[in-house]
Amino acid sequence: MLFGKRKRRDGPTELPAGLCNLHSHILFGVDDGAKTEEQMYELIKLEYSFGVRHLCFTPHYNPALFEPKPRQIAESFDLAKKFVQETLPDMKLYLGNEVFMRPDTIDRLRDGSCKPLGDSNTVLTEFHPTTSWDDIRMYTVKLLGNGYIPLLAHIERYDKLDDPDNIYELKSLGAYLQINTAAFETSRRKLVTKLLEQGAVDVVSDDRHNETRGDPPISESCRFIAERFGYPAAEAVFVRRPLRLLGGEEI
Ligand SMILES: [Fe+2]
Repeated sequence: MLFGKRKRRDGPTELPAGLCNLHSHILFGVDDGAKTEEQMYELIKLEYSFGVRHLCFTPHYNPALFEPKPRQIAESFDLAKKFVQETLPDMKLYLGNEVFMRPDTIDRLRDGSCKPLGDSNTVLTEFHPTTSWDDIRMYTVKLLGNGYIPLLAHIERYDKLDDPDNIYELKSLGAYLQINTAAFETSRRKLVTKLLEQGAVDVVSDDRHNETRGDPPISESCRFIAERFGYPAAEAVFVRRPLRLLGGEEI
């Protein structure tokens, strides 16, 4: 079974409408995600079949590995928008980057080399898995001090965030937390369970790169969270909080 043993709650188990996926590598030709235009269209349709109606493309911005040009990104995004307008008109698309934190990141955000999510100031923020706690904290403070809202990507990947005290410190500073749908299949299962029970997870996304390298479908993850933690918890992390972050609002 995908998510292991389920402990069901009483109450409705239907899924919330209009799911939001804030973290994906579906835009083609710009990073290690979709390689072709056709693959991008297939992945958009796949997300639609999961119930996603708000889809944000977040190509990697990590100059050591991927540094897609804004123009390349804009061209792929225009094709995606045209496809969606013609075939899935009730789906809304957004654009941002998954931004790997480096000393010059604030400058790169300011000069438009990379961008926050949609029209918001929310930055999908990535660290190296071995980044020190001091650096994670320092970059979080730096983003906040420059008017950006950090949404820390797949927090289950970072050794230094295995300590709930560090996580709560980041939250108290004003950062938001994203986990991947695969987080329950990692060694951090216990941690993410605790965070979800406490309402400390803000966003769950599938970080989709292609059809097979894939985190579990958002629909399955949403159903699991609704059954395990309650419908309001699922609605919060798959609809309400991600949409608020896209709108630049506090949660
Ligand atoms: Fe990603």
